[in-house]
Amino acid sequence: MDKRRLPWRSEGPEQPDPYRVWLSEVMLQQTTVAAVKPYFERFTIRWPDVEALAEAPESEVMSAWAGLGYYARARNLIACARVVTEEHGGAFPSTEEELRRLPGIGRYTAAAIASIAFGRRAVVVDANVERVVSRLFAVEEPLPGARERLYALAESITPGEASGDFAQALMDLGSAICTPRSPDCGRCPLSHLCLALAAGEPERYPVKSPKAAKPRRTGTAWWLEHDGEVLLVRRPAKGLLGGMLALPTCDWRGGGEAPAEAEWRDAGAIDHVFTHFALNLSVRCASSEIRHDGIWWPVDRIEEAGLPTVFARAAERGISWRNNDL
Ligand code: ADE
Repeated sequence: MDKRRLPWRSEGPEQPDPYRVWLSEVMLQQTTVAAVKPYFERFTIRWPDVEALAEAPESEVMSAWAGLGYYARARNLIACARVVTEEHGGAFPSTEEELRRLPGIGRYTAAAIASIAFGRRAVVVDANVERVVSRLFAVEEPLPGARERLYALAESITPGEASGDFAQALMDLGSAICTPRSPDCGRCPLSHLCLALAAGEPERYPVKSPKAAKPRRTGTAWWLEHDGEVLLVRRPAKGLLGGMLALPTCDWRGGGEAPAEAEWRDAGAIDHVFTHFALNLSVRCASSEIRHDGIWWPVDRIEEAGLPTVFARAAERGISWRNNDL
């Protein structure tokens, strides 16, 4: 199996740019390589180094992040770029301990940057590595409780040199061969060491505790037009979709009022799954004679507003309503 060629990796033996490693690792938290690639390309063209990102207006970074999800990452990204620029002269620190003091950098990301960008030994454990290790050692203890045990097992096999390459090799193995449902053990270079394969059921690992069902919530988003523009709000910095532009909504529990008195029409509902709950969001549409206070955005340029996915989908309903498609 060959090393995957990815835009944030170096082609040869040289160490990759820590800015690109950091940016990619933050984007890859809870997000697939396929989803990250186009965002990574756009970000690095627009903001080629950490100083450029530190100088960018927050609203531009948030809208460039729109669609990638987990928006606290984008707020921390800006905060981190500013600390690195202002307090570290634009150079990322190289130890896990110092990296972990930066906004948005936890155990995983610090280990990934220290090893991949700076060649330090670190134990890098993401979901792919957890899967590979749980199979190699046939760990019966279920996740999430098994997390520390899997970390200790990963530590026990991490080499002293090139631990970043080692971790990325396990990630590539996890993504191409040691896949969640039907691992391709015939192609696996570690199959002779794998206790889960020896026991005959590699796909049973990692064992997981049963998940609690997600709570379901219902809500309303309002599409209010005036003179070819639609009313948007900037969501509060803290909380769900914090800092992002959005349609006005209720509070997801049914509370909250329409942003104006108008002849509201139903434009259907969309389902969207967040980390902690599933939302059924009704979209209600109206035109207004009055230009109420708020952020008014041209409807024919709504894709440029950088709405998070749930609101981009709600906006499609609004546009269907205005085109009388409903
Ligand atoms: N997932 C998270 N970080 C990664 C990396 N450096 N290579 C491949 N997959 C990853």
